[in-house]
Amino acid sequence: MQPGSARITGWGLYAPDRVLTNDDLSTLVDTSDEWIQSRTGIRERRVAAPWESTATLASVAARRALAVAGVDPADVDMILVATITPDYQFPATATLVKEAIGCANAAAMDVGAACSGFVYALTSAHAYVMSGMYRNVLVIGAEALSRVLDFTDRNTCVLFGDGAGAVLLSASEEPTGGLRGFELTVDPAGAYKIWLPAGGNRNPATPDTMDRRGHFLRMDGRETYRYATRTLARSALKAIERAGLTPDDITLFVPHQANIRIIESVAKQLGLSMDRVYVNVDRYGNTSAASVPIALAEAVERGRVQPGDHLVFVAFGAGYTSGAAVVEWTADPALSSRANGTDRDVSIHAPDDWTSDDPTQPVLRPFFADHETARPLPVAAEPADAPQQPVVAEGVAP
Ligand code: ACO
Repeated sequence: MQPGSARITGWGLYAPDRVLTNDDLSTLVDTSDEWIQSRTGIRERRVAAPWESTATLASVAARRALAVAGVDPADVDMILVATITPDYQFPATATLVKEAIGCANAAAMDVGAACSGFVYALTSAHAYVMSGMYRNVLVIGAEALSRVLDFTDRNTCVLFGDGAGAVLLSASEEPTGGLRGFELTVDPAGAYKIWLPAGGNRNPATPDTMDRRGHFLRMDGRETYRYATRTLARSALKAIERAGLTPDDITLFVPHQANIRIIESVAKQLGLSMDRVYVNVDRYGNTSAASVPIALAEAVERGRVQPGDHLVFVAFGAGYTSGAAVVEWTADPALSSRANGTDRDVSIHAPDDWTSDDPTQPVLRPFFADHETARPLPVAAEPADAPQQPVVAEGVAP
């Protein structure tokens, strides 16, 4: 049976404990707190510890979203992980998340649309639910960008951070609430404006790709800035129009947190005062696909969102992709407290011969050289106790 709406029933974020300040970065590259804050609005960002990965960050955020929703992991039908920093080229990071959080009955796959990935994944989840195919879809944005940043390139390494955010999208019989309008675009002219040249099949890993630093993120910052300020307001407006609304009807604007100057420019173009815009770029930097769901979960936890509110999520990123979604909020924000005490320990089994490497970049290791290094690296473990049922394509679910 087709539902009346697909509503956000759970939300959660997880950011690693380790904070990397602008002053910390100025010990690695020729930069300063003053330059970074004045050009980007970023004060600090989080970096994943040696024992963390995109899958573990995603898993904790997902557990929190399920706790808030009060939904049993076994009732999740699909896990979508939006990321550009998957644990491996394959399998999909979503399959590792499935094991970690024990969603025995879920299908799982990754979504690759860079910083727009969460918005792309959310619209996909909406389509799954509204078609009647699935009732509960976990939508996660998660990144460990510190693993692919070039810490000799001050143009990029100061901008990004690690973290994860998640929502649960659930079928409801009520005809109101959930996604009301969206817009997804791609401009392939920007394909090489933000990219990671090596490690895919076009430039497989070789000593030469290592020498050329091809395994690190590259970006044309100025061009990307121009693209973002041109595109974000347009995408947001399209989504707002499709929802039958105007910018005046938007209670809270939740943009991709790349640069405060970009956010302010877009808010101005939409005629929104900054008190209707959620900003946390100062504390997390740009966490790519995790950026919008982290901002959303934080906004709800901080009481910035109430039932009946209309929110706009809008993001842009490598590709060049952009995405906007208008959501009518329905959940009780007080349910956020259900996530308190969520277990942060994540168990994902690893093969015996690939367990001991520290994935942290050598230049970052001194920042973990205190008590945290006492925590052991992940060791090979058996798969989670609960039997992982194979996922069978079943056509339309009840
Ligand atoms: N510290 C000190 N100086 C710096 C730094 C730094 N960290 N980075 C660059 N500079 C220097 C440059 O070398 C340049 O010096 P020069 O004039 O001697 O050549 C000067 O600062 C000005 O550089 P600009 O690039 O003009 O600086 P701008 O004000 O444009 O800010 C920035 C650069 C912050 C990168 C901006 O262009 C921006 O935010 N672009 C968008 C980036 C973005 O949002 N990316 C999203 C990626 S999304 C995804 O899919 C991953």
